[in-house]
Amino acid sequence: MDTQTIVILDFGSQYTQLIARRIRELNVFSVVLPCTAPLAEIEAYKPLGVILSGGPSSVYDADAPKADLHILDLPAPMLGICYGLHFIVHHLGGKVRTAPKREYGHAEVTIEDTSSALFAGMPPTIQVWMSHGDEALELPQGFRCTAITSNALAGIANEERRIWAVQFHPEVHHTPLGAQLIRNFVFNICGAAGDWTPAHFIETTVANIRAKVGKGHVICGLSGGVDSSVAAMLVHKAIGPQLTCIFVNNGVLRKNEFISVQKNLRDKLGLNIVAVDASERFLSKLAGVTDPETKRKIIGGEFIAVFDDEAARIAEQTGGVEWLVQGTLYPDVIESSSVKGPSQTIKSHHNVGGLPELMKLKLIEPLRDLFKDEVRRIGRDMGMPEDVLGRQPFPGPGLAVRILGEVTPERVALLQEADEIVVTEIKAAGLYNKIWQSFAVLLPVMSVGVMGDQRTYAYTAAVRAVHSEDGMTADWAPLPHEVLKRISSRIVNEVRGINRVVYDITSKPPGTIEWE
Ligand code: XMP
Repeated sequence: MDTQTIVILDFGSQYTQLIARRIRELNVFSVVLPCTAPLAEIEAYKPLGVILSGGPSSVYDADAPKADLHILDLPAPMLGICYGLHFIVHHLGGKVRTAPKREYGHAEVTIEDTSSALFAGMPPTIQVWMSHGDEALELPQGFRCTAITSNALAGIANEERRIWAVQFHPEVHHTPLGAQLIRNFVFNICGAAGDWTPAHFIETTVANIRAKVGKGHVICGLSGGVDSSVAAMLVHKAIGPQLTCIFVNNGVLRKNEFISVQKNLRDKLGLNIVAVDASERFLSKLAGVTDPETKRKIIGGEFIAVFDDEAARIAEQTGGVEWLVQGTLYPDVIESSSVKGPSQTIKSHHNVGGLPELMKLKLIEPLRDLFKDEVRRIGRDMGMPEDVLGRQPFPGPGLAVRILGEVTPERVALLQEADEIVVTEIKAAGLYNKIWQSFAVLLPVMSVGVMGDQRTYAYTAAVRAVHSEDGMTADWAPLPHEVLKRISSRIVNEVRGINRVVYDITSKPPGTIEWE
């Protein structure tokens, strides 16, 4: 089945992902490709429409990012945004120059041609967000101006060629009617049906995986998090027993996680999981190590070794493994560096980054066009439990980077207990899904306390809870005092070995979310 797709070509704008998001909000499928994508790749999508994104460069610079100029002759309607407008003007015979007045921030646009399909239903003046230093001075033949600001041209169109373009950014919230403009393009101009739903996505993806994999065998490293679980579930739906998931207990998982992940994914959803309890192997390697980066390297290296062993075993049983599933998401793939070429940066997931090359595996990345919230929608539609879908991010090196100093089995057990209390209380307060991450950290700081008639001398737990969009920046969460009080009193009373609880009130930057 063909999915109606709007192709977005990325010229390096920080807003490109927002264009895709706005389109998905309309239940229309879109995909972002680097501007250097070959014409054949773009045409393979049979695009319903093509959008040229903004970008930081000047179109007349020698090293300006460029797309195959044949895209300007594609039959699909085209919308240029900012740099996209300059690209169209420059390459179709018009003139772009450095503007005498640069426009950054809020601006008012007057719509000169209210009959333009792109501005349908809009008032004669609209508030927009501008971010440009160049302007179109002369328009190519057949184009007309459709909108202006007091300084410059703000919109152009050539209906015959089915090309529209705006100087401002309709994709950002600061352009309040921007969503309507995108809606006009997608529905009125491109004629999209707006029927892209999770079910539709699942159906298409499952069919594609089936066709791609054939009779081959596939492995997947499960972390228990939402991305790898949903990716595995899609492949499971497609090829069932040809998929084997590997779930490794590295000894620094959260309390009961080794069991609960198996319950959720194997018992409830039927995934074929090989669960490997390698905790002793990891913990013995971690003994005596206090340096954070060394801990990370040990865990990463050990994970690859364990995974490799298991994969070899599976390969022996199945006659060979050809494919590796990864839960790569759209924001992981699309970096602004995509203007440098189609070689996209792929984030290494769950420490299996080096594995595809090492084992000569081909990749299946069913989520690489999606955002996290869309992945959750897909997971929900496949009946996956909220425990899995709503899980807060958890670092690959696990509790090892939350135990400051040496990681010992006793310290892991202490932190697991304290962490469990933090998570339980945050959930009970109805805050778990509103917080990016919430957890406990074990500090190797001993202090004196008193319990009953006895003096204690024990460890300190730090509680950390942060709000964040993507983990890149974070604000410490102002947890209600009542919740902090319950967490503190439960940890000190229930976890023998911790007698003091502190709350971390550091944002990122300058702090980091994890303590190591
Ligand atoms: P920081 O501590 O750098 O964390 O503010 C940002 C986000 O990344 C997660 N994190 C990691 N994830 N391996 C991972 O898979 C790691 O080594 C790692 N270090 C940090 C962290 O939990 C937060 O969401």
